[in-house]
Amino acid sequence: MDRTDKQLCRWHAVANAQALQQIAIETVLASAAGAIHERGEFHIVLAGGRTPREIYHGLCTTKTDWSAWHIYFGDERCLPPRDPARNSCMAAEVWLNNVPIPPMQVHTIAGELGADEAALQYSETLRSVGYFDLVLLGLGEDGHTASLFPGHDWGTAPGSQDALAVFDAPKPPPQRVSLSAARLSRARQVIFLVSGESKHRAVTAWRAENNIPARAIRPETGVDVLVESTLLEPLALPDIQGEFKCN
Ligand code: 6PG
Repeated sequence: MDRTDKQLCRWHAVANAQALQQIAIETVLASAAGAIHERGEFHIVLAGGRTPREIYHGLCTTKTDWSAWHIYFGDERCLPPRDPARNSCMAAEVWLNNVPIPPMQVHTIAGELGADEAALQYSETLRSVGYFDLVLLGLGEDGHTASLFPGHDWGTAPGSQDALAVFDAPKPPPQRVSLSAARLSRARQVIFLVSGESKHRAVTAWRAENNIPARAIRPETGVDVLVESTLLEPLALPDIQGEFKCN
C-alpha cells in the first residue's frame, strides 16, 4: 500500500525565505544526483504558486545532467496555454526554457482543455510512470496543497484517478487539475515549501493534526516540511479564534 494510515512529518525550521530557497535547491539537486546515479533518470513533480519561483530560478545555473530529468506538475490551473498565471508557464519562464531538458520530458497538464479532459489525459500520461523520485508541494492558507482543497475530493483511496478534475476551487481560477493525494504519495521523497506569515494558521492546524489536505499526502517515507521558523511559534490569541475550515 502506497499510503500509510498516519502522516509521518518531519519539520525543518529555516531562518527565512532565502534560506528556504537555498536549502530547497540543494535538496532537489541531491535527490536528482541520487536518482540519476541509481536509475539513470530523475522524475520530479513541481509545485505551483509563488513560493517555488526563486527555487526554480536558482536551478537554472546549477550543474546536473538535464537530459535525465523528467518534469511533472502537481497541479495546473485551467487557463489558456500561455497564460502567465499557469504553474507550467511560471516554471518555463524562470527555469525550464533556460536548461536543456528534452522537451518530450516536460509533461505539462493541458489545462486549456478544461478540467475533465485534462485530468483524463494526464492520468493516461502518468500510467507509465512509477514512483516519483521527488514531489515538491506548497501549502495554502486554508491547508490546501496542489489543488486539493478543503471540502473537495482529495483522491486518498488507493484506486483514485491519478489526476483529478477540480471545479469551484476557492483559490482562482475555479477550474484546475490536481494530482490525487494517493498519486502524490507514490513518491520516494516529498518536500513541502512553506513560507510567509499567511501560512501560520495552516501550519498550526497541520501540527495540531487537523484534517487538512496537506496531511493527506502520506508516502511510506514520510514528508519533509521546509518551513520558516516563525511559523512554528504559537499563534497570538486573536489569530487562533475562529473556525479553521478543514474539510
Ligand atoms: C497553485 C498551487 C497551490 C500553491 C499554494 C501556495 O496552483 O496555486 O499549486 O497549491 O502551492 O496555494 O501558493 P503560494 O506559494 O503562492 O503561497
